[in-house]
Amino acid sequence: MPPEFLPANEEAIAHAGALLREGRLVAFPTETVYGLGADATNDRAVAPIFETKGRPTFNPLIVHVSGREEAARHARFTPEADALARAFWPGGITLVLPRLATTPISLLVSAGLDTVALRAPGHPIAQALIRAADRPIAAPSANASGEVSPTRAQHVMASLGTREALALILDGGSCPLGLESTVIGFPENGAPTLLRPGAIAREEIEKVLGRKLAAADAASGEAGRSSPGQLASHYAPRAPLRLDVENPREDELLLAFGPHVPNCSRPVMNLSPSGDLREAAANLFAMLRSLDQLAEGHAIAVMPVPARGLGEAINDRLRRAAAPRD
Ligand code: TXA
Ligand code: MG
Repeated sequence: MPPEFLPANEEAIAHAGALLREGRLVAFPTETVYGLGADATNDRAVAPIFETKGRPTFNPLIVHVSGREEAARHARFTPEADALARAFWPGGITLVLPRLATTPISLLVSAGLDTVALRAPGHPIAQALIRAADRPIAAPSANASGEVSPTRAQHVMASLGTREALALILDGGSCPLGLESTVIGFPENGAPTLLRPGAIAREEIEKVLGRKLAAADAASGEAGRSSPGQLASHYAPRAPLRLDVENPREDELLLAFGPHVPNCSRPVMNLSPSGDLREAAANLFAMLRSLDQLAEGHAIAVMPVPARGLGEAINDRLRRAAAPRD
């Protein structure tokens, strides 16, 4: 049976909350991307997330809570984590913190680590769903592992619509930020670490902390251990991607950025004609999906996007989308 697909009104949200309490999976909008949600306190509810996404079980999940107060029932906050929660929650930042022994959050969520990733989303539908479920919601992005994250309910349907465990997709329109949250870790010794660039720019976070964020690889002994989800090839469309292209080849489609777009005989989409990085972030995944559908075996050329602000996360996702596939 395909999942229910409902506009996210009050009634649908109450229904979604009940489904979550029964241990079913519900896809819902956040300000970053759509999440594939389960009751974070129920092992039997969380397990099907990995199956449904085809996601390795060593890759831990983000838990969505109403705010800092609720988060403090699950994890130990350092003063710097506290400062970030106060500055950016509810919003597009995820904090990876040591689990409290008393938290009811499933160990499966943490994939064997002694930390848990927490985020208070700002999207009113996500907040209403957390209230309706009356418990924390574990939710990775609602796409099959390896695909770009969904920023519209239709993307979720296209990616996961045939999966048995998904009971309901709540349609809340386009996600306003369009990039996954920024993930910050707090190693016991050393500076807070940028585990994944995302919807909140590094510069804004460093301003609040009054110091530079450490790089993820510097913090993890073994490669990738501090942020197990950061595999090189991720967020990949089927079409090959060629980055930093000023002049596309004859047979390439074009993902443009800014006002000066080179001639191109195949389909062109512009992330932001005015060169606005926020607009580009919000358009990135939907445009990659659209061009991918039009590509018919041809490559997609991508114009350079500046690395400042949200450009860091945009370039991170583009590099992953262009990386060799396994
Ligand atoms: O914006 C977002 O973050 C979206 C929405 C739905 O909230 N969620 C999302 O989840 O992107 P996901 O599962 O696709 O990415 C979570 C990232 C992964 O890179 C994962 O490895 C990392 O967070 N992560 C989760 N728990 C962690 C932990 N305990 N330690 C280190 N990294 C963790
Ligand atoms: Mg994801």
